[in-house]
Amino acid sequence: MSNYQNEYNKAANNPQQFWKEQAQQIDWFTFPTQILSDDENGIERWFADGELNTCWLALDYHVANGRADNTALIYDSPVTGTKKRYTYVELRDEVAKVAGMLSNLGVEKGDRVVLYMPMIPEAAMAMLACARLGAIHSVVFGGFAPNELAVRIEDAEPKVVLTASCGIEVNKVLAYKPLVDKAIMDSRWKPSNVVVFQRSQGLANLGHERDLDWKTVVTAAKPHECVPVKATDPLYILYTSGTTGKPKGVVRDNGGHAVAMKYSMSSIYNIDQDRVFWAASDVGWVVGHSYIVYAPLIHGCTTLLFEGKPVRTPDPGAFWRVCEEYQVQAIFSAPTAFRAIKKEDPQGIELAKYDLSKLETIFMAGERLDPPTLEWVSEMTNKPVIDHWWQTETGWAIAANMIGIEMMTVKPGSATVPVPGYQVEILDESGEQAKANQQGYVTLKRPLPPGCLPTVWRNHDRFQSGYLSHFEGYYLSGDGGYVDEEGYLFIMGRIDDVINVAGHRLSTGEMEEVVGGHPAIAECAVVGIHDDLKGQIPLGLVVLKDGVSVEDAALASELVGKVRAEIGAVACFDQALVVDRLPKTRSGKILRRVIRQIADGEQYVVPSTIDDPSSLTEIERVLER
Ligand code: COA
Ligand code: AMP
Repeated sequence: MSNYQNEYNKAANNPQQFWKEQAQQIDWFTFPTQILSDDENGIERWFADGELNTCWLALDYHVANGRADNTALIYDSPVTGTKKRYTYVELRDEVAKVAGMLSNLGVEKGDRVVLYMPMIPEAAMAMLACARLGAIHSVVFGGFAPNELAVRIEDAEPKVVLTASCGIEVNKVLAYKPLVDKAIMDSRWKPSNVVVFQRSQGLANLGHERDLDWKTVVTAAKPHECVPVKATDPLYILYTSGTTGKPKGVVRDNGGHAVAMKYSMSSIYNIDQDRVFWAASDVGWVVGHSYIVYAPLIHGCTTLLFEGKPVRTPDPGAFWRVCEEYQVQAIFSAPTAFRAIKKEDPQGIELAKYDLSKLETIFMAGERLDPPTLEWVSEMTNKPVIDHWWQTETGWAIAANMIGIEMMTVKPGSATVPVPGYQVEILDESGEQAKANQQGYVTLKRPLPPGCLPTVWRNHDRFQSGYLSHFEGYYLSGDGGYVDEEGYLFIMGRIDDVINVAGHRLSTGEMEEVVGGHPAIAECAVVGIHDDLKGQIPLGLVVLKDGVSVEDAALASELVGKVRAEIGAVACFDQALVVDRLPKTRSGKILRRVIRQIADGEQYVVPSTIDDPSSLTEIERVLER
């Protein structure tokens, strides 16, 4: 039997024993006696009576075990020209002070703290400081507009909001504080304090009485110790797009998460302690939570926090420069980042300037790894390129080529095989198992392994109805796909309204709500269409209200502005086209899939349920223009 199969079977046949052994790899305050049990909602929970502290595992444990002077975090910021290193003891001391500051502001175990921060070390410190106190952080991606922040503040009800005066994008400084002020103004929930880290590139006005200057309050604070929490206590809430305008607050626990993070570093990423691991992502996304902050530190690695882009900061050699400069052992990013590099440096001239001898593996996730990108990166770097599939909800990979256990043959287009602990099954509409190569719903048989969400923040019904009730005993991933005769998993795309734009998860349903809110619009459809660089981009089709007369271009620019203002520039909503009518079924359901197929130039079958077939001709005509 192969090493992988052996490991997979162990986890599948005796999950309690398997995860108990993995749990022994981390430093508990109280080791759990209950490995797997059900909570009051009937949801499986891992390590329920164990006690630990995630910040302890990430920092203090290493300080106490000979790693105090090893580098914990490297900050490399081409957009500000800054490079900085923090040893484990330095980072621990900084974090303990930030925790002390939060405690002075009344933050206690279980309280929420919202972070709206750019990619600066203080963002990671703030997350770890919350973990230190047993407080629950909720990081909101800096590319989201005030409305998105307001929705999250209202749902999480934070005592404190932590922010910076500005974020820095390629060649532009984005003032964050006015966005935070607007979000709080629009939110029914008001935090007691807003703590602002002032950056010299753009200072914020701290005019409101709740505003505090980060450096002043942190300097005045005393270091705070780690507060023991239960394994099942939440570590963070991370909001993610679903089918409606209201994002879902994915809850992550402390114990299962820490165990999963630790296990993944050796089994999936094959990383040695004390080596450099770089997730080129953003702390606002799950990849940033798991693999910029928690997993590399829990494992005792050096993590890299990069405030830049794969291109234009300053050139497409940026990733390779960082890999050489810090002797990165493994890099992890989204395929779109490598497509951007390929576009600007197709021959690898920039790449050839750098010594990549220490780089062992390139990991990709966040969207489907298209075979041409896989091929280009493999050829240019001569390194294994590993696709792996996961979601905000799971917090770590569901399927991967587990190179820490056994390197399997790469099949382009496949995320390889289920990670031990996950039982992936493809089901058809009636819940029957699909045959090999037959597409269906990608589901996970319960129990889910440690690390996966146990609920949606303050909305358990949404967890039940969105994920668990479709197929009894299974978690519905929201992706469609198939397993081939050798057990390789192919993820073919979402079965709901979620789209993936440059590795960023967004909801077309939410965009439709924003577009449909324009006074001239009677109805609309937003679909994700293919884009060579970003994978998918949204396209809006709108029908005007009777009697409205407006110039198409002027309306399109208003709608683009509206989505930028209400969701954010990151939505990349740049196209809105006026149509006479939308194709619908006789029961009134908009045929979004067919619209997408027409836009992508794919063959499509006219559904037998269509109300008016000529509506498709109308779409073809408009899209041809
Ligand atoms: N804060 C504020 N604004 C942000 C932002 C942030 N953190 N991130 C993106 N934006 C803005 C950009 O400035 C841009 O605004 P503009 O339309 O006014 O110019 C808009 O959102 C779109 O940004 P993006 O999709 O990043 O496009 P880009 O052309 O600037 O860059 C890539 C394209 C491919 C280089 C970039 O998307 C990328 O690096 N993607 C990788 C994504 C990733 O790491 N995902 C995490 C999953 S692992
Ligand atoms: P997020 O929650 O932002 O991580 O997005 C999760 C979604 O991204 C998944 O449900 C998939 O649709 C998609 N995704 C992530 N990784 C992959 C991958 N390796 N292959 C295909 N799709 C992926």
